[in-house]
Amino acid sequence: MSLKPADPQAIVIFGASGDLTKRKLLPAFWHLFVEGLLPSGFAIVGYARTEMHDRDWIEYVRDAIHEFGKVDPSGEPWDEFAKALSYLPGEFDSERAMDHLRGHLASVDRRRHTAGGRFYYCATPPAAYPSIVRRLGESELHGNAKIVIEKPFGRDLPSAHDLNDELHAVFDESQIFRIDHYLGKETVQNILAFRFANGMFEPIWNRRYIGSVQITVAEEIGIEGRGQFYEETGTIRDMVATHLFQVMTFIGMEPPVSFEPDRLRDEKVKVLRAMSLCDPSKVVRGQYAGYRAEPDVSKDSQGETFAAMELEVDSWRWAGVPFYLRTGKNLRRKDTEVTLSFRDVPYNLWRGVDAAPLARDHLTIHIQPHEGITLAMNVKKPGPGLAFDRATMDFAYDRRFEAPLAEAYELLLLEAMEGDHTLFTREDEVERAWEILQPVLDDPPPVVFYEKGSWGPKEADELIAPHVWHVSRR
Ligand code: BG6
Repeated sequence: MSLKPADPQAIVIFGASGDLTKRKLLPAFWHLFVEGLLPSGFAIVGYARTEMHDRDWIEYVRDAIHEFGKVDPSGEPWDEFAKALSYLPGEFDSERAMDHLRGHLASVDRRRHTAGGRFYYCATPPAAYPSIVRRLGESELHGNAKIVIEKPFGRDLPSAHDLNDELHAVFDESQIFRIDHYLGKETVQNILAFRFANGMFEPIWNRRYIGSVQITVAEEIGIEGRGQFYEETGTIRDMVATHLFQVMTFIGMEPPVSFEPDRLRDEKVKVLRAMSLCDPSKVVRGQYAGYRAEPDVSKDSQGETFAAMELEVDSWRWAGVPFYLRTGKNLRRKDTEVTLSFRDVPYNLWRGVDAAPLARDHLTIHIQPHEGITLAMNVKKPGPGLAFDRATMDFAYDRRFEAPLAEAYELLLLEAMEGDHTLFTREDEVERAWEILQPVLDDPPPVVFYEKGSWGPKEADELIAPHVWHVSRR
């Protein structure tokens, strides 16, 4: 994360009255401002269909920060921040609907010294992205601009391809930031530090020593009133094509030749290219009991709220090592972790003795909560005779570092405002992710059911057998 503010720019949030804006974007901009990390000339323009005056927008922003932020909006800093806020009601659908944004931004430039720099954030439902892009192009608002596109980027390969075409008709790839907030998580970025800033792990980070890899993104929350979104999207699109694949590329990639954004992204794309297309017979789609009774969900919905799958990376490093992915809503508890399970010892010295068999060593990267890394191994249990027990070597962020971890959105907004693409997905990357999943999107296995508060359907356990899903002890 760079620590110097970016060049002056006016931020325009499309979908200003939406959930993402309220929960994540506004608190993130406020925190960046408080930390002195927003450009000297900046403004935040809310743009949405809802009619609202500037003063109502300022109140709205304040309430959002109050509810979801870490630093209360008050005193002089807040008064300063509030001066940067303005609101423009408008729509996206009709031709030249954004002409009035031009005039508004010109006056923002004069008042706020934003020097013609533009930072557009698409926080609307995805269906509106193409219209926003077209309108910006028509009204010639695309120069000296960056545009951030929220996930999901399309809903399958053809739609992602179309969206890329729409974007490229107006913006250059260098102006486009496809966001996946998992890349803003410290613990996800630390995967690269762990692998490439240490000499001891990389030599064993391959098929010779690692027998399987698991990535779990378990959520305790349900769909939280997003029935319609979940019906249209489902867990595979919402979570697997995005967050799980991003983590998987960090685990699977080769060392980049440099930390240049495109060198890093080249390596991520290579992992995706090496992955075989997903085999629907190795996918479990689950639905929690009671999902069909949620508002805006159909009574016979086949939408999934859980997915587990086995994938392969056909590369010299990973051939033959299964990657097991699972994620779901309403599971036992929130737990996002990656576990690399090491192969058995070549032979067990203590075979025939009571102490055997030996458990496998594994390395677990705790993405959240209880962020850290654990190496679990066998140790001799103290005392006479020979018995083994398990022990761990642990790194916990909260014990090692005093400051709480920054919000993913703060880091990503800062990087995008600076124009750094390292933590954003590239055109070819999103398209390849959809391509891998296209077989299961085209031919989804029927959903199986699971109880709320469980670890998902039993079919997910069968999928991974004889392995078992790793769950960290708490
Ligand atoms: C979002 C998904 O991208 O990520 C949500 O749309 C999900 O369904 C959320 O709950 C999970 O994010 P985190 O940071 O809480 O793991």
